[in-house]
Amino acid sequence: MILVTGGAGYIGSHSALALLERGQEVVVFDNLSTGHLETIETLKKFGNLEFFKGDLLNREELKHLFERFSIDSVIHFAAFSQVGESVQNPQKYYLNNVCGTINLLNTMLEYGVKKIVFSSTAATYGEPIQIPIDENHPQQPINPYGQTKLIIEKIMDDYDKAYGLKSVRLRYFNVAGADSKCRIGEWHEPETHLIPNILKSTFSSGEVFKIFGTDYETKDGTCVRDYINIEDLAEAHILALEYLKSGGKTDFFNLGTNTGNTVKEVFSICEKVTGRKIAAEQRPRRIGDPAVLVADNTKAKNILGWNPHKTLEESITSAYGWENMLRKELEQNNICMERI
Ligand code: UFG
Repeated sequence: MILVTGGAGYIGSHSALALLERGQEVVVFDNLSTGHLETIETLKKFGNLEFFKGDLLNREELKHLFERFSIDSVIHFAAFSQVGESVQNPQKYYLNNVCGTINLLNTMLEYGVKKIVFSSTAATYGEPIQIPIDENHPQQPINPYGQTKLIIEKIMDDYDKAYGLKSVRLRYFNVAGADSKCRIGEWHEPETHLIPNILKSTFSSGEVFKIFGTDYETKDGTCVRDYINIEDLAEAHILALEYLKSGGKTDFFNLGTNTGNTVKEVFSICEKVTGRKIAAEQRPRRIGDPAVLVADNTKAKNILGWNPHKTLEESITSAYGWENMLRKELEQNNICMERI
């Protein structure tokens, strides 16, 4: 059985769904602090999924989890992931992300589980010194969120050397889109990410989308990011697990598309997909945003055999489909969401 921590969240749930669709047995461990029980209920319809509500900071709960289920490998998503919040409240991030992961790794060792795929981030690279960014780029995070992920990567190296615990660290660039059948999708409260924020402006009356920074040294003055589709990203987790199960060594890979799009380009595609003129206003730069982040994904292609193929337009189309679906469902159930 595969343990998916954080499986009620955005990336964790899409990866759990990909595992279920391949007939794998999955147990999700999640404290539901940012994930949603509704997502778990949906996932249960598509395969053999167990849910264990628990917190990584609680060793007893972790032990119960490993006692109760026959876990052979782990995909670890559970973490706080808002860059801005990590700057305001670093103790929340170091405690949950770092201490929580140490508890998980120690419990794994106690129960003889020695394979883990870990959700890392391009934020571990910090301000880029070259584009595209390959895995040899220096890792110098510029915020506590990126620091926590880098510390965990280093802990995993030490745990391999000392205890033979094998890890694959996947460094995501900007993840985009939803399940193409709209069963699950991106559901953050509050939402800070670009694509859901643009789409949100098409629903909320009077809400104007804010473009953070139009004076960057890029082709149209707005930031360039590498948007990787969530289903392509989920597929990489399956491949990483297969790689470890076939005896692969501890390693790390960038997950991106090798191409970048500006905020204005993303905005135009959102207008095309929704068929609406979306209200937008220019705002000053957001602190800590590098001008350009684009991945070199050659290593993941060569070693994992990963082949991302979905376009940004496909990601935005699925994201829009999901946003429509979510609003309909919440309205039907009379649930009030801040973002509606
Ligand atoms: N942006 C806007 N308006 C918004 C939201 C975002 O203009 O309302 C801009 C940002 O300034 C940035 C771009 O859109 O230029 C992308 O911003 P996101 O917040 O969607 O994503 P980030 O690039 O800031 O961060 C994402 C993840 C992080 C991860 C990072 C790694 O959220 O967890 O990618 O590259 F660390």
